Amino acid sequence: MNKTVMSIIVVLVIAGGGFMLSRSNQPSGDSMHGSSGAEIKDDKQELAQGAKIKISPERFDLGTVIYGEVSERIFTITNLGNQPLEILGISTSCGCTQAEVAEEDKVIAAGGSVPMKVSFDPAVHKDDADLGEITRIIYVKSNDAQEGEVEASISALVIREGEMVEEAESRVTTIQMTARQWEFVPNPIRVKEGDQVRLEITSPDVLHSFSLPDFGIDEELAPGKTSIIEFVADKKGTFDFGCAVYCGAGHGNMRGQLIVE
Ligand code: CUA
Repeated sequence: MNKTVMSIIVVLVIAGGGFMLSRSNQPSGDSMHGSSGAEIKDDKQELAQGAKIKISPERFDLGTVIYGEVSERIFTITNLGNQPLEILGISTSCGCTQAEVAEEDKVIAAGGSVPMKVSFDPAVHKDDADLGEITRIIYVKSNDAQEGEVEASISALVIREGEMVEEAESRVTTIQMTARQWEFVPNPIRVKEGDQVRLEITSPDVLHSFSLPDFGIDEELAPGKTSIIEFVADKKGTFDFGCAVYCGAGHGNMRGQLIVE
């Protein structure tokens, strides 16, 4: 018990220290702003100096995967810096795992983000190497001067078909949606409890977002693109979603409901 509490405190102290360090390390003579000791608060998000990569989520559990099926998950690569971030290379720890960023997304503007598609095919080696509980790492190289290579990971429990009957019942429900000024169509959306839900949301006009807090989802929807959002509807109920990016006069009304039956 005490040990756990101690280690939490240690982690907090280290994290806090690291935070202060990174604050004080920030070059103070940037651009034309003078450096008075006071903090300058922009209404924009503070962007780090240079290119700064962040992958989210850092790890994702695909859950139970049937041997022979291919699972997919979209990760998001965000540039938290004030200079363009270039993706220089993507590799994975195993041939069963593929990760890719579209060619046109390999340079990410300051503050921008792009999708990285990760797919996992445990049957690719045609042997039992990818059965059971596995974790695979995705390595992303970029021009981030501090973290030239960052990692994300997926994990899964890989079983053969028929090993667990009740798991096989979970289905993928794909819903195609449009997010536009100022509505989501269709709305409400209905799924069954336990469904693996895949939303394919297209924004025809301006930048919107899809924010579904009860499932930890908050994804930007770039104009003219189709964004893919996946989650497991693991609880029954009616859940509010909405657009969390200001998109014009009707932004506040741009919301909807997910019904899990
Ligand atoms: Cu769409 Cu705010």
